[in-house]
Amino acid sequence: MTRRKYVVGNWKMNGLTAALDEAGAIFAAAEAYPSVDVALCPPFTLVGAMAAAVPGAAVGGQDCHAADSGAFTGSVAAPMLADAGATLVIVGHSERREGFGESDADVRAKAAAALAAGLSVILCVGEPRAVRESGEAIAYVLAQIAGSLPDDADPARLAIAYEPIWAIGTGLVPTVADVADMHGAIRAKLAEQAGAAAAQAMRILYGGSVNGDNAAELLGTGDVDGALVGGASLTAGKFGPIVAAA
Ligand code: G3P
Repeated sequence: MTRRKYVVGNWKMNGLTAALDEAGAIFAAAEAYPSVDVALCPPFTLVGAMAAAVPGAAVGGQDCHAADSGAFTGSVAAPMLADAGATLVIVGHSERREGFGESDADVRAKAAAALAAGLSVILCVGEPRAVRESGEAIAYVLAQIAGSLPDDADPARLAIAYEPIWAIGTGLVPTVADVADMHGAIRAKLAEQAGAAAAQAMRILYGGSVNGDNAAELLGTGDVDGALVGGASLTAGKFGPIVAAA
């Protein structure tokens, strides 16, 4: 099965209204590569404005609440994202798992809520440095998948992003062999949990210090269907070469 390449920018807590011009430049540059799906996930404050400024562009949130509404000060529900023009959302990013104490069960509930709201989901997993050094990285990540993959997810709307925590924003990247091993293990786990056909259809992205120099090698690795990009997704100058490499 051929899976379309998928390159997603996670702007994290970066971007004011003035950055919408850069988003326009990013999506315009991506039009030269129609075989690649490109999306941007700006802060909540820019989701509606970006979706309106770049019609047809895939714009997403970086998190959502598991409930559709209620007394959850500061949170944003999946139907609210969809209402603002988002078509996707990231859930389970390590900066949420670690910084906000999100468990696998929390992530699973958020993913299920997002799918129910009609959004596509990018479900993040990844091991801390100590786990990588202990040799248990694959077991750790597969346990995260077991705990956070929602049942009966539409494979066309659920992607996994493998982001080793020690590679995020550090300039460090795993070896291509380690990435291939991890992505292959994730694919096998998806087959076990969701069935072989769904596992073949689901995209598995790599994230962690992806840039224009390493993207071609990483994206050419077995079972790597795209990239989730942080720092290098903020400008067309840095993000464009990653899309081109895909
Ligand atoms: O979600 C993307 C991310 O965590 C990777 O960040 O800056 O290492 O590309 P960065």
